[in-house]
Amino acid sequence: MTKFPTQRLALCAAIPLLAMAAPAQAQSVIGSGVPASLNGNSQERSIDFAEQVPASSALIILTENAELPDVAGLSVAERNSVAAAIAAADFKGKQGQSLMLRGIGERPLIMIVGAARPDDKSPDWRAAAGSAVQNLMKEETELAIVGAPDPAAMAEAALGLALGQYRFDRYQYDVEKNPASQKIIIAGTGAGEAQMLWDNRQKHLAEGVRFVRDLQSEPANALYPQSFVERTRAAFAGIANVRIEILDEAAMRKLNMGAIVGVGQGSPRGSRMMIVSYRGASGPPLALVGKGITFDTGGISIKPNKGMWAMKADMSGAAAVMGTALSLAKSRAPVNVVAVAALAENMPGANAQRPGDVVRTYGGKTIEILSTDAEGRLVLADAVQYVADRYKPFALVDIATLTGSVGRALGDQYAGLFAREDAVADQLLNAAAESGEHLWRLPLHPAYAKAVRSDIADVKNSGVTDAPGASAGAHFIGYFIDESLPWAHLDIAGVDWNSSSRPLSPKGASGFGVRLLDQLARDWKAE
Ligand code: BES
Ligand code: MN
Ligand code: ZN
Repeated sequence: MTKFPTQRLALCAAIPLLAMAAPAQAQSVIGSGVPASLNGNSQERSIDFAEQVPASSALIILTENAELPDVAGLSVAERNSVAAAIAAADFKGKQGQSLMLRGIGERPLIMIVGAARPDDKSPDWRAAAGSAVQNLMKEETELAIVGAPDPAAMAEAALGLALGQYRFDRYQYDVEKNPASQKIIIAGTGAGEAQMLWDNRQKHLAEGVRFVRDLQSEPANALYPQSFVERTRAAFAGIANVRIEILDEAAMRKLNMGAIVGVGQGSPRGSRMMIVSYRGASGPPLALVGKGITFDTGGISIKPNKGMWAMKADMSGAAAVMGTALSLAKSRAPVNVVAVAALAENMPGANAQRPGDVVRTYGGKTIEILSTDAEGRLVLADAVQYVADRYKPFALVDIATLTGSVGRALGDQYAGLFAREDAVADQLLNAAAESGEHLWRLPLHPAYAKAVRSDIADVKNSGVTDAPGASAGAHFIGYFIDESLPWAHLDIAGVDWNSSSRPLSPKGASGFGVRLLDQLARDWKAE
């Protein structure tokens, strides 16, 4: 029997903005006008810290080796039984290992989870907690996690929980039962300090990542340039030191942004540029610019249908820069950033742009469009020139689901990194190592810079036969960025979506970039 999912959180405030934005701000309905859901995602487990282990909860014990750590919450008899089970099971405490024990003492369940990384054996409390909560999705009981040895490790475990239990189920109306929503308690000495660390940093980081995953997951009938703007604006409501600037098509036309307006001209859902600046420090900002194609059909150079649905996430870069700004602003980080979302829907249509068209960009440089499917670099061309000119950043990082080529080269564990200078590349690689979001550097070579030049315009957006695809894309963007401005380009087309679950990221939208860029902004300051 189907149960009406009453537990789903009604998005009273957000729904009118999200699903019915079209009637509210335009004369005619765009799309059907019928929202696909009136619900939010199902209720998750709330996360708490405590010194004591609650008596009757299920117990999750994190450990980095085969020893049962000296944790509270077990009687001597229970301890002996658990230790015997560990010894009998060839459990070594490695990441990915776990042991599910039932029938020991009063607790409904005792689960032992390995935390040792495969390479250097150092413990990863985040991943251990993330995989534990994923495995207990259906366990209708309160959970307590022990074994994280200090407040910092406890706060990291909390981040793992918040990222690992993410779900996007708001469109599932016909459900028998939602995942379990009883609370989860991280127990150990120093709980108060762990709570403080969490409240000051990881909680906001998690919120930033989860915000990005929500936007990535939304289908393109719900998320288009204007609704992206409205949802993001709502997320920043009431946060101190934040300024938001929105450019609609008329404003962009006045600024001669022919590239971004051109990409959206085949769609009734017009292009937007959203600029969010957060000033938590003085001095010039770090600029973060994201590709925000809310759906990429390819345009007149239309894509084949296989896998085209995934192009609803072609706004992952734009979402990532906004999620980063959100995390930094909410945690009051002492940094100055400006995040730019270059938003358009790439559709074929009677007014769509054609291969062979020439467009003029913000700074006057022109582009010959050889493929309307190489649209990400077009919207970025206007966005990077605008932010460099108006906001005078000390450095600029762009992030984009730019090319299928990067996924073929690097797979789904590394995003492609391009930088002119080693010092800039090192900034990014260090942030990658610290955050756990991995980058692999790929080449920019002067020879490819010539290859992007066009016969009729300054540059062409495709048809660069002598350069590898991801490098050609990077060179194209680089053409619009002054040599004197430190710049890095991140191609995330291989990492924006997980084909299967990982400890910190269930199958689907990965939220890639927030942890990386949040770390980068904190570490990289103007000289
Ligand atoms: N959004 C795509 C790139 C993409 C492909 C992202 C697969 C995620 C998964 C991009 O706009 C695109 O179509 N790129 C073309 C570029 C080519 C026309 C120069 C590509 O990669 O084929
Ligand atoms: Mn495309
Ligand atoms: Zn695209």
